[in-house]
Amino acid sequence: MLEKVIESIEKLPSPSFVVQRIISVCSKPDASSEEVARALLMDASLSARVLRLANSAYYGIPRKITTLSEAVMILGFKTVRNIALSVFTYDMIFKNQESVVDRKKLWAHFLYTAIVSETVAEVVGYPLKEEVFVAGLLHDIGKVVYDYVFPKLFETMVKIAEKGKMNMLDVERELGMPSHELVGKKLLESWNFPDLLVFSTAHHHSVESLSSDFFLSQVSMVQLGDVLANLIARGRSFSWGDPILSPTAMRTLKMKPRLISKILERAKVKISKAEELMEI
Ligand SMILES: [Fe+2]
Ligand SMILES: [Fe+2]
Repeated sequence: MLEKVIESIEKLPSPSFVVQRIISVCSKPDASSEEVARALLMDASLSARVLRLANSAYYGIPRKITTLSEAVMILGFKTVRNIALSVFTYDMIFKNQESVVDRKKLWAHFLYTAIVSETVAEVVGYPLKEEVFVAGLLHDIGKVVYDYVFPKLFETMVKIAEKGKMNMLDVERELGMPSHELVGKKLLESWNFPDLLVFSTAHHHSVESLSSDFFLSQVSMVQLGDVLANLIARGRSFSWGDPILSPTAMRTLKMKPRLISKILERAKVKISKAEELMEI
């Protein structure tokens, strides 16, 4: 089964040259605003959508941003990169002609997890919160792979999860299918995406099985982000069981109930401003 999925990964839409370029430019420590704007300008429609979103309520910029370099200057190149990656992920989810599931729900879960994970990073004082946003955004990309490769089967899995109030991971296990963690990992590896994204996708339900401590805290942030996003909007992830908090993640982040309430409160305010990101 895993081989079949891996073979089919090639048929999925992959990041365009521009998206790949944006990822590589932003992961260079000496990247400049102009470089990011220049890479984005190579794709006119992507640029226009990024600019429109940069002006959305979510980012709360009081005056109108009219050019990309201005957007990069005001919001920072990492945030502009995150907007571009959000557009790419959104397109990937909705380009699937064969899909029969409610993909709007899935997109909401992707976006909410990105927002909540970033909020976790803020509250615990982790400085590279933009990276955690992307890790949260992509954590369940394996479900999108299933939706492309086996659309009918995926619809059945979604129905089983809803009827039986089960988590998708348990449905996969019961059907003897590779987990969406593993499938997502294979996809991101085939795209040569940064290791953090590969690890957080591969371990968002299994923080304790990370082989090194290298990304432990970031993966823990995504784990908590995913659980809280599932609490905020039940069933959008197509998982209907109780979300399971990882004790390893909680210990790693030194999480306390008081901090969790703070994260939830902040994240809900951000989500209420993210209306324009729901349809991009
Ligand atoms: Fe998941
Ligand atoms: Fe999830």
